[in-house]
Amino acid sequence: MDILKLRNDFPVLRENKELAYLDNAAMALKPDCVINAVNNYYEHYGVNVHRGVYQLSYEATDMYEEARNTIASFINASFEEVVFTRGASQSLNLVASSYGLHNINPGDEVITTELEHHSSNMPWFNVCKVKGATLKYVPLDSEGRITVDAFKSVLSNKTKVVAITYVSNVMGYVTPIKEIIKLAHEVGAIVSLDGAQAVPHMNVDVKDLDCDFLSFSGHKLCGPTGIGVLYGKKELLDNMEPIEFGGDMADTVTKTSQTYKATPYKFEAGTPIIAGAIGLAEACKYLKNIGLDNIAKYEKSLRDKAVSLLKEIDGVTIYNPNAETGIIAFNIDGVHPHDAASVFDDHKVCIRAGHHCAQLITAWLNTIGTVRASFYFYNTEEDIKKFIEGVKAAKDFFSQF
Ligand SMILES: Cc1ncc(COP(=O)(O)O)c(C=O)c1O
Repeated sequence: MDILKLRNDFPVLRENKELAYLDNAAMALKPDCVINAVNNYYEHYGVNVHRGVYQLSYEATDMYEEARNTIASFINASFEEVVFTRGASQSLNLVASSYGLHNINPGDEVITTELEHHSSNMPWFNVCKVKGATLKYVPLDSEGRITVDAFKSVLSNKTKVVAITYVSNVMGYVTPIKEIIKLAHEVGAIVSLDGAQAVPHMNVDVKDLDCDFLSFSGHKLCGPTGIGVLYGKKELLDNMEPIEFGGDMADTVTKTSQTYKATPYKFEAGTPIIAGAIGLAEACKYLKNIGLDNIAKYEKSLRDKAVSLLKEIDGVTIYNPNAETGIIAFNIDGVHPHDAASVFDDHKVCIRAGHHCAQLITAWLNTIGTVRASFYFYNTEEDIKKFIEGVKAAKDFFSQF
């Protein structure tokens, strides 16, 4: 990978040469090709899809549906298994509200974990409350990881759904998901996988994983905001009820009955996120061209270098020294994470601080929040240098008080 050449694809990096952007777990920057694809749609089309009976609309429809094809092949899914949503949160909620509310019954069990983003576990908390089911948590090991043995300890014949993250947005751990999916299927449970932190950073193949649902957001993989994907196995989507009703998803509507289009359209009520889908497809092509394996390897090498330098600084607690992805969770002892983040900002280092919409793991770590640095393929050793200077500056500044 020619990192300097890749960096030049990003207007924000071209315009802010001093910036160390280390908030990639929250959102990735956008390359020219994605911005151009979105602009191209607005400049040269800007019309609705599916419903227009004229050439411009036919062409826009082709672009929109071709985007679905590209995204499907990015995760090795079929065209009709890719539902466009507003983002991972909406995808995860769709599974809970459609599959969950119709298939979970009193006495059933849903398994989740303390490593979940709120968008993954909260919808199932609600389903369990409404349906009289039990939400069970996989006990984490001493490092805060999900293990296969711990998963087995909560799995039973009562388990109907496993709502679980592929990569934790706080700890950066990769869940041993293939084994977990296999075990879940053995008891007849389905698995709703939160891929928001996985799909942008590693090869994800839904057929190989055999997951039932996979949710992710476009904006974390260099795509536009406001677009996300729900992958679902066709036989599951076929049997699920829509949760939003209206334009474009309807087949036949009379005063006494209504029928819906086939999946994925029955889940896409209203004017779709046309520019978002087109931009996301461009982002998928861009990442595929770089190579997801290259990206994963490079990010890991950056985080390992950063962690070894961080370890040399006294008074820093690293919560995930052995994580396998580009996320570092840490605190400067005695310094509130938000205070630390503002010193980083003074040093032109963008990082995240707080509970990262994952209060369960924050409580498990017995802290009020963490500082999170997260790498992507366009980060450099220079960014690490600035990051370490930021840590030292924050530590020095707050040691006065
Ligand atoms: C693991 C994980 N799941 C779900 C989400 C929700 O994504 P979005 O806010 O794009 O819907 C995030 C966002 O940070 C995340 O990190």
